[in-house]
Amino acid sequence: MSVTGKNRVITTHKLNEMKQKGEKIAMLTVYDYTMASIIDEVAGIDIVLVGDSASNVMAGHETTIPMTLDQMIYHAQSVVRAIQNPLIIVDMPFGSYQGNSKKALSSAIRIMKESSADAVKLEGGEEIIDSVRRILSAGIPVMGHLGLMPQSIHKYGTWAVRAKDEKEAAKLIKDAHLLEEEGCFALLLEKIPADLGATIAKELAIPVIGIGAGGGVDGQVLVSHDMLGLNKSFSPRFLRRYANLRENMMDAFANYIKDVKSGDFPNKSEEY
Ligand code: KIV
Repeated sequence: MSVTGKNRVITTHKLNEMKQKGEKIAMLTVYDYTMASIIDEVAGIDIVLVGDSASNVMAGHETTIPMTLDQMIYHAQSVVRAIQNPLIIVDMPFGSYQGNSKKALSSAIRIMKESSADAVKLEGGEEIIDSVRRILSAGIPVMGHLGLMPQSIHKYGTWAVRAKDEKEAAKLIKDAHLLEEEGCFALLLEKIPADLGATIAKELAIPVIGIGAGGGVDGQVLVSHDMLGLNKSFSPRFLRRYANLRENMMDAFANYIKDVKSGDFPNKSEEY
């Protein structure tokens, strides 16, 4: 049930059926009420992710590491108020689940109770499996996240494509199977070779969603601000821009300033 009391149209079960039927899954990130209400109005988005990329696009941080549990819950609450149909997944922020499965469960419970979202997403495989297991044992659906894991950026020291070498690719495949066996309902793969993405999607029964993981996976996700062209400084190869909102907004702001300065705004019909 959603917070409005309506049954969510897209469920973890429905996503599994989509995978079986070979129906591609469309997912976008969202962090606020207004954007969520626009996304909800466009029929067809299957999943929205309240991503910890809010740290970059909403707060202006270089990494996702500063994001707190309270901040994620705030964003999730805003999104849940607007969304009727898509499944809502919330990223568990850095420090809320690593190395302590009891803390992980209490963080996930806070997200579910305080936001009424549908599921959580965690970065990592074997290293965090105790946390994944404990969260799942409470009946909370978990999406895994492998490949480039932005919360580990300081370990990598680079934003380059992951798992290009055999050793890392083999670990990724092993982790993907482990997450599925533990009961994750879906897996997100970020910035890995397309062949590897396709292999994993073929080997797993659960839906595999990619961002920079090629066309052979079961669905795609993009950061909404990036695909709308709100952010010009981020241009990875996998990003397709569907609008130029930054330029549209700059034009609107410039026209407003011109009208205020010239005295054209407000006119008689805009006065009381
Ligand atoms: O936080 C985020 O935006 C993500 C992306 C990989 C989709 O996890």
